[in-house]
Amino acid sequence: MIYFFSGTGNSRYVAEIAAGKLNDLCCDIVSPQPFCGETLGLVFPVYAWGLPFVVEEFIENQLANLLSSKKVTYVFCIMTHGDDMGYADNILRKKLATVNLPLSAVFSVFMPNTYVCLPGFDVDKDEVADGKVSKTVEKLKSICQQIENKEERVDVNRGALPYTKTYILRPLFNKFLVTDKYFHISDSCTLCGACASQCPLKNIEVSDKVRWKGNCTGCLRCYHKCPNSAIKFGKFTEGKGQKKSLKSIVE
Ligand SMILES: Cc1cc2nc3c(=O)[nH]c(=O)nc-3n(C[C@H](O)[C@H](O)[C@H](O)COP(=O)(O)O)c2cc1C
Repeated sequence: MIYFFSGTGNSRYVAEIAAGKLNDLCCDIVSPQPFCGETLGLVFPVYAWGLPFVVEEFIENQLANLLSSKKVTYVFCIMTHGDDMGYADNILRKKLATVNLPLSAVFSVFMPNTYVCLPGFDVDKDEVADGKVSKTVEKLKSICQQIENKEERVDVNRGALPYTKTYILRPLFNKFLVTDKYFHISDSCTLCGACASQCPLKNIEVSDKVRWKGNCTGCLRCYHKCPNSAIKFGKFTEGKGQKKSLKSIVE
């Protein structure tokens, strides 16, 4: 069973390909099904060289119940990222240890970038995004082969200064930037409600205005999926793009 979290579709896409190749089931951690089989898979995006809060909470609060007393013989994780992941695997290994699970194999794969909320960060140009997706689809063949063989593996893109990113920058990012208080809408908002219906945490309310309710994991689905490009994060998203849907990349 593969449990995935996906803000904007990249990790869902990877989880579905892996499930197909491994002849396994996958489900969203937002509405998880009980565990079946013997291999546990986790697929999710890297956030600030670590895990999204919602994934940490899933492991801490829900995973043990879903596993019930079933025997798990192999645990793998595939993280998706735009650039690099620092020591996100160490954070994951520590989290899994709190529920007595090992991390047998961990992989990271490049996917189109979704982070746009700081100066200098924007979505990838189309050709860069397309290139990342096709390389990852190719790499998933060998990743899934290794998972099938139950190999112990750490095959990740840590990038430069991984310790500084995960253990110094990440706590600051989580403290100051994982918040919905800077979201606001522009005049192009039609109050269509797409943001509210898409939000994985049901954190958005649309009436005569759009209101974020304070329980945000920072996934930016609302920003990227807004059909009118009306959602802004402070002043930092001015002039930034929205991620193309993967269907349009793949088809
Ligand atoms: C809040 C946030 C933080 C991110 N942090 C990182 C990061 O530390 N390193 C990186 O390479 N990509 C980072 N990204 C980009 C995503 O990891 C990447 O685009 C991922 O594939 C998105 O997957 P999804 O579509 O399943 O949400 C971040 C994205 C968001 C929204």
